Amino acid sequence: MDLKKLAAEHIYSKLADQLTFEEVLGLVEIPKITEHGDIAFPCFTFAKTMKKAPVVIASELAPTLAGDIFDNVQAVGPYVNFFFKKTYLANEVVHKVLTEKSHFGDLKIGNGRNITIDWSSPNIAKPFSLGHLRSTVIGNSIALIANKCDYKAIKINHLGDWGTQFGKLIVAYKKWGSEEAIKENPIPELLKLYVEFHEQAEQDDDLNQQGRDWFKRLENGDVEATRLWSWFREESLKSFNKIYDLLGMSAEYNQGESFYNDKLSEITDILDNSGLLEFDNGAQVVRLDEYNLPLALIRKSDGASLYITRDLATAIYRKQNFNFAKSIYAVGNEQTLHFNQLKGVLRKLGFDWAEEMIHTPFGLVKQNGKKLSTRKGKIVLLEEVLNESIKLAEKAIFEKNPNLDNKDEVAKQVGVGAVIFHDLKGDRMNEIDFNLENMLKFEGETGPYIQYTNARTNSILRKANFVETNDVITLDDQWSFEVVKSIADFPRIVERALEKYEPSVISRYLIDLSQSFNSYYGHVRILEEDAGLQSRLSLLKATSIVLTEGLRLLGIQAPKEM
Ligand code: ARG
Repeated sequence: MDLKKLAAEHIYSKLADQLTFEEVLGLVEIPKITEHGDIAFPCFTFAKTMKKAPVVIASELAPTLAGDIFDNVQAVGPYVNFFFKKTYLANEVVHKVLTEKSHFGDLKIGNGRNITIDWSSPNIAKPFSLGHLRSTVIGNSIALIANKCDYKAIKINHLGDWGTQFGKLIVAYKKWGSEEAIKENPIPELLKLYVEFHEQAEQDDDLNQQGRDWFKRLENGDVEATRLWSWFREESLKSFNKIYDLLGMSAEYNQGESFYNDKLSEITDILDNSGLLEFDNGAQVVRLDEYNLPLALIRKSDGASLYITRDLATAIYRKQNFNFAKSIYAVGNEQTLHFNQLKGVLRKLGFDWAEEMIHTPFGLVKQNGKKLSTRKGKIVLLEEVLNESIKLAEKAIFEKNPNLDNKDEVAKQVGVGAVIFHDLKGDRMNEIDFNLENMLKFEGETGPYIQYTNARTNSILRKANFVETNDVITLDDQWSFEVVKSIADFPRIVERALEKYEPSVISRYLIDLSQSFNSYYGHVRILEEDAGLQSRLSLLKATSIVLTEGLRLLGIQAPKEM
């Protein structure tokens, strides 16, 4: 329920001879200051046609627009300010939410079309980084928001499971590796080999050549190389899956870079026939001068494919197989140039759908202001982070509610939710600082704060044995009105989050709604046995529905008790 639309319909009914509905809708504003009303309508636009000053128009218009859904309509300067009838709005909004339940805010935008989402995409034989966590939670939320808007989101895990680094890893394993050690502790052991390789290669450049050679053998299907590669891959997937299980997130398809090995020839043929390939020091490149971009390196002098070659094949495969309306890439900001080049090459090849490829970048994760780098072996093991967060949540819950039945489950929902919310709280382009204690606070702008607010509404409803009725909602106080207005705004919020591919639009909204609810809770005696009781409880129920649905769109669970 869109308050702007609601007001615009009303205003339009009085001005149909002068403005179209779209024009009216384009003019209505939500004032920043409460004293200026819930809706404001500026009268500058038709001053010319009416040959009157905007101030005069406003004062003539105001009385004609009063009535039904508005308590008060005032002309203030060139504006008409509208104050909704509180009981009217509360009744409309609360009943709409109680009827539609979790479908409140569903939008018909996608018409069932597909959106592919390049999602998570960690690199085999390396730890799942905090950067990949961002791709995982941001991509997951964009998928959920898209589904709510009637798209069909398809998450694809573009695992980094191909490239020269696997040649290097094979060299390192054959020189210094131990089968037992890797079986016991796969990721840290493989990482050790990776670090060792880079240290040694600084002294001994021949190692790099050996690495390239082994990768070449891998690309040619060499048995030993393939066996080692599959083994490293399996072990890595096992450990990534533990993280996905904890987060409660998964891809529709696991199609890593290696998936495209037998699909590279199509793009290679297209490129060969396009006349776009040029030789540059033995390598083959596509120039992107017209886009002011550096040239894209497509094929190395030894014929090996590159990251972008595989991404070209990927883009074409996704278009052919999923016929996407949009193709999203939830990948860090440091790869912006890569995605611009990718799009540039596809454009030059004449693929119009390249315009529908959207890189949704995000900022770095830092710890104490410092960037984390795997090369140097400095790592944060995400699985440990999540488990630590769950443990801290358990402690906090135990202090607050020692008799809670399903403590373990709730601790998991809160601990994991805290990490997810922290990631999705600010604009995705912002850098985020990783600090578990801050994430887990029950106050302030945290996941647990919103979950706790929701649990509070549920506990009051339980205490009151709330049963839904069709009774007219009679709320007319300022506190409940703020909650009502915030709830009414939810569909618009969902739409904006989709438009910007920005989960933080939802998370910030949830903070606002929780704050409005908590001031309501602080000022009004909800359980007072009077005529308004059922109305107040119904508002709590509606609040809980929207908080739960909003959290769901972020990939976070909403325990009913905590
Ligand atoms: N594996 C890559 C990395 O960790 C991310 C892959 C992003 N997706 C893509 N289609 N290039 O840097």
